[in-house]
Amino acid sequence: MKIILLGAPGAGKGTVAKLLMEADGSIQISTGDLLRAAVKEGTELGRQAKGYMDRGDLVPDSLIMDMMEIRLQEKDCRQGFLLDGFPRTIPQAEALKEVMKRLDISLDFVVNLDVPRDIILDRLTTRRTCANGSCQEIYNTKSNPPNADGTCKKCGSPTIQRDDETEGAILNRLEVYNEKTAPLIGFYQGEGLLKTFLSVNSKDTVEAVIKALKE
Ligand code: AP5
Repeated sequence: MKIILLGAPGAGKGTVAKLLMEADGSIQISTGDLLRAAVKEGTELGRQAKGYMDRGDLVPDSLIMDMMEIRLQEKDCRQGFLLDGFPRTIPQAEALKEVMKRLDISLDFVVNLDVPRDIILDRLTTRRTCANGSCQEIYNTKSNPPNADGTCKKCGSPTIQRDDETEGAILNRLEVYNEKTAPLIGFYQGEGLLKTFLSVNSKDTVEAVIKALKE
């Protein structure tokens, strides 16, 4: 499958992407995960991105496009990909359209995860993420807790709260989403690619996406 996952912070893009990956072997490409890895490794990209990320602001489009143009040409993308957290602005969506045309790639559709705001706020303050960069399993202290000692059920590494999970950064991320990312819903509607799923239960959403792909 070749899809974009669109949704507010905490809508469950990462959770749904991991379940879809298990379903057909397509790979998840999360710009947030790529940026966090760059920060951890101390690369030039990570150094430039860190301040924006910690405040909950978007990283400049030019940095994201340079990173994604390279990533989309890697071999593992040929069997299918799930773009998680990208594109995030209209300029990114327009640039992605050009890149895909050049690389002769076409999307199946864009999955818009629609989740009520009160649920989103609750999920973001209770998320835990595996600190092991090659695992990054997502947990939730309420709906899907890690081991009792706070370690990851898959690899045993500690689970952590992200640097952008302070109350101030969470509220800013939601505002930035409304201003810069929500307009993509209209953009992809205009392209005839948008499918919206009310996503309260991630497994139900995954089933509905797979059904839509077969239609
Ligand atoms: P990114 O990592 O993309 O963060 P985000 O969009 O804010 O999304 P999240 O990862 O917070 O949430 P999610 O929707 O994946 O939800 P999850 O599955 O974890 O971006 C981080 C930063 O990087 C940005 O702020 C920006 O600075 C930068 N950046 C990234 N991409 C960029 C771009 N393209 N352009 C510019 N800057 C960019 O779920 C959340 C929680 O809810 C978890 O605890 C989970 O267990 C729980 N949960 C999920 N589904 C359910 C369910 N159905 N029931 C109960 N609990 C659930």
